[in-house]
Amino acid sequence: MIKNVVESTAPSAEPIIELTNVKYEYAAADKLALSDVSLRIYPGEYVAILGPCRAGKTTLCLTLNGIVPNMMMGYLEGSIRIKGKETRESIVRDVAKTVGMVFDNPEYQLSQLTVREEVALGLENIGVPREEILPRVAEALQIVGLVGFDNRSPMALSGGQQQRLAIAAALAMYPDVLVLDEPTSNLDPIGKQEVFHVAARLNRERHMTIVIAEHEVEVVAAYADRILVLDQGKLVLEGPPSDVFQHVDELNAIGIRVPQVTEVAHGVHSFKSKPDARYPVTLEDAVLWARQNRLESQA
Ligand SMILES: Nc1ncnc2c1ncn2[C@@H]1O[C@H](COP(=O)(O)OP(=O)(O)OP(=O)(O)O)[C@@H](O)[C@H]1O
Ligand SMILES: [Mg+2]
Repeated sequence: MIKNVVESTAPSAEPIIELTNVKYEYAAADKLALSDVSLRIYPGEYVAILGPCRAGKTTLCLTLNGIVPNMMMGYLEGSIRIKGKETRESIVRDVAKTVGMVFDNPEYQLSQLTVREEVALGLENIGVPREEILPRVAEALQIVGLVGFDNRSPMALSGGQQQRLAIAAALAMYPDVLVLDEPTSNLDPIGKQEVFHVAARLNRERHMTIVIAEHEVEVVAAYADRILVLDQGKLVLEGPPSDVFQHVDELNAIGIRVPQVTEVAHGVHSFKSKPDARYPVTLEDAVLWARQNRLESQA
């Protein structure tokens, strides 16, 4: 069964991912893609990575499943531990059993003639016995809402369905962590919602650890427990959305948008004059904030 990893996200638990002073430079580059990054991710957390173009988001995602450094030409300093094990001492196929990965373009990840074969592929590659493969494929397709699609061609699916298929292929491996690198950047609004919904359900109902690089700050504000902000390879801000999105000017300065409700509150002059004022980051926060302000202006 796809695991209910751990019930708690308490920092007292052991981190499932731990990066310590990680520096990484691609062989073909003249500057660091990651510059002294240290972070911990705990079981059951939903962590969003925000950052402008070329900030290092994809590189960070690739460190989490061992592709960096094991399958890339480059130079690594520091330590990357997944479940306590250094990834440079592991093989990528083994790291993939713990960390599933979904990339931005679903078409590039799909190679098989049918949906069933697509999900089964990874399992065959790691030598899962034949009789276990079909139930695992069925379970993964059920979780992402693709029951009955088994014999369809992946190429005939919508973008959102393709990306859910890519998630199913990762889930069939029974990972502890699902890493999604801008999984909705090539999808229409419906496809985006489908993918966000599946990721949120996996996190909330199955306590799966989710790490997602994502531009949609409204979604990040609604679902993430914690945000990591990268700029030029450095981790420049970190915390829950309600804290990180208070830094409107700093985020805008590096090219990161804040949620619309936060932007509106930021533009309200009276707000800035209150030293302890906190901007709303979700629609629910904004409704409370508007009520509070109306009450204050009536008093
Ligand atoms: N294969 C590669 N070879 C050389 N340099 C690379 C390679 N991949 C990325 N880089 C460089 O590493 C830095 C970080 O790139 P990365 O793709 O991790 O950023 P990103 O935040 O994912 O960007 P984007 O928003 O465009 O997806 C950039 O300067 C980029 O040019
Ligand atoms: Mg990227």
